[in-house]
Amino acid sequence: MTENDFLPLAYTNTVETGTATYKSPSNIALVKYWGKKENQLPQNPSISFTLDACATTTTVSFRKLENKSVDFSFDLWFEGSQKEDFKPKISTFLARIEAYLPFLKEYHFKIETSNSFPHSSGIASSASGMSALALCLMELERKLVSTMTADFFTKKASFLSRLGSGSACRSIEGAIVQWGSHGKTQGSSDLYGIKYPYEVHDNFKNFHDTILLVDKGQKQVSSTVGHNLMHNHPFAVERFKQAHDNLDKLITVFKTGDLNEFIKIVESEALTLHAMMMTSLPYFILMKPNTLEIINKIWAFREKTGSNVCFTLDAGANVHVLYPENEKQEIYQFITSELLVYCENQQYICDRIGLGARLMNN
Ligand code: DP6
Repeated sequence: MTENDFLPLAYTNTVETGTATYKSPSNIALVKYWGKKENQLPQNPSISFTLDACATTTTVSFRKLENKSVDFSFDLWFEGSQKEDFKPKISTFLARIEAYLPFLKEYHFKIETSNSFPHSSGIASSASGMSALALCLMELERKLVSTMTADFFTKKASFLSRLGSGSACRSIEGAIVQWGSHGKTQGSSDLYGIKYPYEVHDNFKNFHDTILLVDKGQKQVSSTVGHNLMHNHPFAVERFKQAHDNLDKLITVFKTGDLNEFIKIVESEALTLHAMMMTSLPYFILMKPNTLEIINKIWAFREKTGSNVCFTLDAGANVHVLYPENEKQEIYQFITSELLVYCENQQYICDRIGLGARLMNN
């Protein structure tokens, strides 16, 4: 498919008012997206686990205007109060997707949104937030056309989410989602995420991710600034190639259930992401001393017990602790007794890999 396939044909139906609610999850990348081209296209393929416990629920109520407005017409409510300061981000998103949803200026929208995780916890809400909003808007488009296949709906929702925030396109459907064209993954595309299409060993069913909140401060580097650091980065070409190789290896790992190899790929990806930030200009260190303490504790625990626990990081100091379902009792115990002391206010969010976004009304 190309971008043009997402331009709509003429709308056949008229819709005056309505509402749509979606609950959309966040996700954690195993092979990281870091570096993008024009139009939010990724420099390399990425793959993620879906995190249902970190979700955004968004309701969009729409009312057709008598005349098309000049600017986008919407009110934004976040957790019960109006949020003017969130509006520019939404306006930018709407402007980016207007060509694909040409009705946007014909309606007034009330957007009400809330997160299942604490605000400013350092957990990125852009993936869950942008995907939930894209899904609600797609619900309106679905009403405007006489037929739309479920497959097209999902692909276009992911395509639009990507234009809001790259990683958001991995939050639409599936427990494991791949985004970005990759030689070995059939159907993969830079334009949208797809449900991982190959065999997944039972070792990865109900995998867990406990997020340790090491630093709840504002992001030190916005993702846009971060991605831009990969332009003219001395190691960029090699890094993008490495992501392809790691994805190749992960396909085999998902099939065979080789947890040792899984750990190597996932931890190396996390450290490479941070290495890219440390070796760019300007350079950043986003880990905190407690991030390193936790990593060392995880390594020592693995050495001592033979456990398959491992970690990954996003572009911040918080640590995602990953472990299989059959180790959850030991790992809960380990987290409580050895890791929580390194978390701000001893806070953590316990998660389980989920299945993707859900329509809450229609
Ligand atoms: C480190 O999706 O937040 O989490 O496209 O600029 O919105 P934008 O970036 P964003 O970047 C996420 C980067 C990452 C790795 C990943 O999720 O793959």
